[in-house]
Amino acid sequence: MIKLGVLGSGRGSNFQAIYKNILNGTLKAEVVVVISNKESKMLKIAEEYGLISVFLDPKGFTSKEEYDAELVNILKKHGVDLVVLAGYMKILTPVFINAFPAKILNIHPSLLPSFKGLHPQQQALDAGVKFSGCTVHFVTIELDSGPIIIQEVVPVLPNDNEDTLAERILYKEHVLYTEAIKIVARGTLPIAPAQEGEGT
Ligand code: GRF
Repeated sequence: MIKLGVLGSGRGSNFQAIYKNILNGTLKAEVVVVISNKESKMLKIAEEYGLISVFLDPKGFTSKEEYDAELVNILKKHGVDLVVLAGYMKILTPVFINAFPAKILNIHPSLLPSFKGLHPQQQALDAGVKFSGCTVHFVTIELDSGPIIIQEVVPVLPNDNEDTLAERILYKEHVLYTEAIKIVARGTLPIAPAQEGEGT
């Protein structure tokens, strides 16, 4: 069974959706460790599920590379096969990305390659697009630019604001991330990123 290591910084709804799908048998996987750079809600949820959860405080490190090296240590110690970024709001350095080639996934609330970076839902509204959505992709050095695994379309409604659009996209994210993990776990994907890579 594929061993997942989850990294996040916030409310943890994607992590929770994935974990619920493991519990109900939809996803054959195991969450072996959950790590956060903040004392986040995601960590609380992980603790409530009885999972190994780690708050790794960036304050204890002198560089981003040193921090990422410790992340790698923890993930490797737990035998992680696939790293799942679920709202992880820190740019990963090559130290991390090169340690897990083609083994890091990220979810982004837009139809990439449109609207990379922060506030993608507001970017979609500002651009006046009629459809946005979400994307799960492999993580590479360049932000939100790795090979796409799966996408889901969400219509932009006339009265949408950032919050309403984000909420409808999030609802789709909760289904999409599990699908992406299933696809990657099957090991039949014809795509794999170069050994460089990112994430938010
Ligand atoms: C999601 O919108 C995800 O697409 C983005 O960060 C948000 C994380 O939300 N990368 P949550 O912590 O999973 O609730």
